[in-house]
Amino acid sequence: GKSGYDHYMLKEIHEQPRALRQCLRGRVDEMAGTVDIEDLGDLSPTGVQFVACGTSYHAALYGAQLFRNAGIPAQAFLASEYATSVPPIGDALVVGVTQSGETADTLSALRAARKRGARTMTVTNVVGSTAARECDHAFYIRAGPEIGVAASKTFSSQQVALNLLALGMTRTVDTRDVITSLRELPGNVQRVLDESAAEAVAEVYQDADAYFFIGRGYQHPVALEGALKMKEITYKHAEGFASGELKHGPLALVTEHTPVFAVVTGDGEQARKTVGNVKEVEARDAPVVAISDGQTDVARYADHVLEIPETHPRAAAVLANTHLQLLSYHTAALLGRNIDKPRNLAKSVTVE
Ligand code: M6R
Repeated sequence: GKSGYDHYMLKEIHEQPRALRQCLRGRVDEMAGTVDIEDLGDLSPTGVQFVACGTSYHAALYGAQLFRNAGIPAQAFLASEYATSVPPIGDALVVGVTQSGETADTLSALRAARKRGARTMTVTNVVGSTAARECDHAFYIRAGPEIGVAASKTFSSQQVALNLLALGMTRTVDTRDVITSLRELPGNVQRVLDESAAEAVAEVYQDADAYFFIGRGYQHPVALEGALKMKEITYKHAEGFASGELKHGPLALVTEHTPVFAVVTGDGEQARKTVGNVKEVEARDAPVVAISDGQTDVARYADHVLEIPETHPRAAAVLANTHLQLLSYHTAALLGRNIDKPRNLAKSVTVE
């Protein structure tokens, strides 16, 4: 049942601290600063190609960045486009990210890769799923069953699982920092759940014409995911952009009726540049909601701030997404939408 929650989606959003703990259990050694993953064997691929759809594709975009930042060439492909883009495989490992393990587009991309001689892996939630049975390796995200059509806890569990994979398959210098931030993640997600102002923000903007989400680096997939969740359950127009792309077109859409949600974490160059983009939309009278860890002065240009604790930028992506899940959920609830079963959609898409 829904354990007292109005919807499965809200229940599953709140299950995230537990889901993430499950995903980490027995796989990290914080003292040694190492990750140990069963069933990986001696996998140390020279390159990684991710294939996935929807929310899982956003996790894949994030995962590809994790690998690239560890020095391994990696790319994320939309599974439905993989066959037509005919990317070189070489020694690359092809990783299908799929919560259900049954998504037809992802299965056929994996089959195509295997036909061309690639080793395959799935990052999935479902033991015994088709993807798990057909791939050479299966890495389980251990999120527990997800009933709501909108993916929530499975996305954050994919993010954590992909961190573990990247750490397990590569050797990076700052391993210990990352591991500590992953360990702290369940508690930090709980803090965001307890303290988020997302419901109040949802009330202010429930009648907006459209919603835009921007972010850079690890926060770019978060922006895309924030927008997908918004469209899926509220039926409102929403778009996610890489912050730097705004002035290459989308800025023309920005008005006082289009709130812009900017994910700004850390104090590096990327964060500063996104603050610059925030100033541009603010100058066009768009309402700004900053999702911020307080390390930049973005709050000065924002109408609202959704706060996240300071942590490693990778972990910050999970925390920022938690606010955006709540934002979409509460907007959809205010609009009276059928949150757990949005119109026209199915939990698992088994046709191409
Ligand atoms: O089971 P999968 O992870 O392969 O599903 C992929 C997409 O169909 C799925 O993530 C979809 O985009 C969600 N409903 C989004 O919330």
